[in-house]
Amino acid sequence: MGAPRRVHLRTYGCQMNEYDSEVIAGLFEKDGWVLTDDEAVADVILLNTCSVRRHAEDRVWGALFDLRERAMREPGLIIGICGCMAQAKAQEIARRCPHVKVICGTRAFNRLPELVARASEGKGGVIDIDMTREPYLADLPKKRRCRLKAFVPIMRGCENYCTYCVVPYVRGREASRAPEEVLSEVESLARDGCREVMLLGQNVNSYRDGGVSFAELLRNVAGVAGIERIRFMTSHPKDFPDELIRAMAEIPQVCRHLHLPLQSGSDKILERMNRSYTFESYRGLVGQIRGAIPQIALSTDILVGFPGETDDDFKQTAHALDEIGFDSAFIFKYSDREGTRAYELKPKVEEEIIVRRHAELLSMQEKISMEKNRKLLGASLEVLVEGYSPRNPERLFGRTGTNKRVVFGGGGDLIGKLVYVIIREATPLTLIGEEI
Ligand code: 5AD
Ligand code: SF4
Repeated sequence: MGAPRRVHLRTYGCQMNEYDSEVIAGLFEKDGWVLTDDEAVADVILLNTCSVRRHAEDRVWGALFDLRERAMREPGLIIGICGCMAQAKAQEIARRCPHVKVICGTRAFNRLPELVARASEGKGGVIDIDMTREPYLADLPKKRRCRLKAFVPIMRGCENYCTYCVVPYVRGREASRAPEEVLSEVESLARDGCREVMLLGQNVNSYRDGGVSFAELLRNVAGVAGIERIRFMTSHPKDFPDELIRAMAEIPQVCRHLHLPLQSGSDKILERMNRSYTFESYRGLVGQIRGAIPQIALSTDILVGFPGETDDDFKQTAHALDEIGFDSAFIFKYSDREGTRAYELKPKVEEEIIVRRHAELLSMQEKISMEKNRKLLGASLEVLVEGYSPRNPERLFGRTGTNKRVVFGGGGDLIGKLVYVIIREATPLTLIGEEI
């Protein structure tokens, strides 16, 4: 037997990909592989990729081309690609990058070690992008990067077909994981010292397994001893049952934070996006949620420059941002994705205008976030201490239930604990304080 073979894994994109990468790492370890951060010594280099925006794909193309020379020098090296871009662009990757030996779609990543083994037999490239296969829902071995917090997928796929989005095409039909599967994963996490779980799905509100709704699933997860915080992502505003608002209000472990993508403040654009709600109904929902859970912090996703977005539509989005007052917002420039319905829509907004609108909303949101955070000066907030501050290792870093980043002084013994911190300074993205 030679030295164990080494695999290097790079992850792009969303939380679901981060989770999948932990599973991929776990599967390789189980098969006797060693994970390495050092790409230079790896026998296998795997890219777990994203396709949501063009920029994400461009980065992967760049990485693939960078690897070409090394692949020529080292014929034994196996370069593989998996995730959404592998699913969407398999043929193009095979054509442009013959040095890529494994192309593995979103429904096959649990077979990656096997695909790599087949590719190492040297009979040419291996492609598996079969979307008719059932999505992976079982609890597979994982190599977790953080002990304290964990992602737990509760469903896979999406059937909402927002017209700008590739996810329904690359991740396929919606499927919910059985509650027993979810609970057994959460229980095993809790046994390993995990304190906070983030339940993941493209639209968790439409979770359903037999008679079990998302609200009931939340109550079940809250019953797992040791889990002190429960988060979830993402909720689609089109279906937000009262039952869920009640569950959020009643379950103390459910964090006072909700991510509720608005995308646009213009009804015309929302309709063209196929979002199935109006700004009026969104505003009503926010009112209801804030009424039931006054401390709740809201975050959102905004998309600027969708085809047909006029100055007036944009103003409505800016107005919406101002009126709702989100604690934070991810503001994206629309990226034209081939295969989506928006790709066919006209007129496209000029890049220059998109860039300007994007910058305008960013600076607007920065002021709103600053304002929100300034109101917390002097407050004492409960913080789950995650580790040392990456910027200043003499300080600790953690998050409030409302998902605000907090930096404060204290010893390493506090890591993993819930502590109270008095807020002394505020920036748009971070609160600075001292432990009580
Ligand atoms: N261009 C830009 N942003 C997009 N998103 C989804 N598709 C696109 C696209 N084609 C954004 C949406 C979504 C978030 C996860 O990514 O705002 O909520
Ligand atoms: Fe994409 Fe819409 Fe599904 Fe979210 S809900 S993954 S934006 S299609």
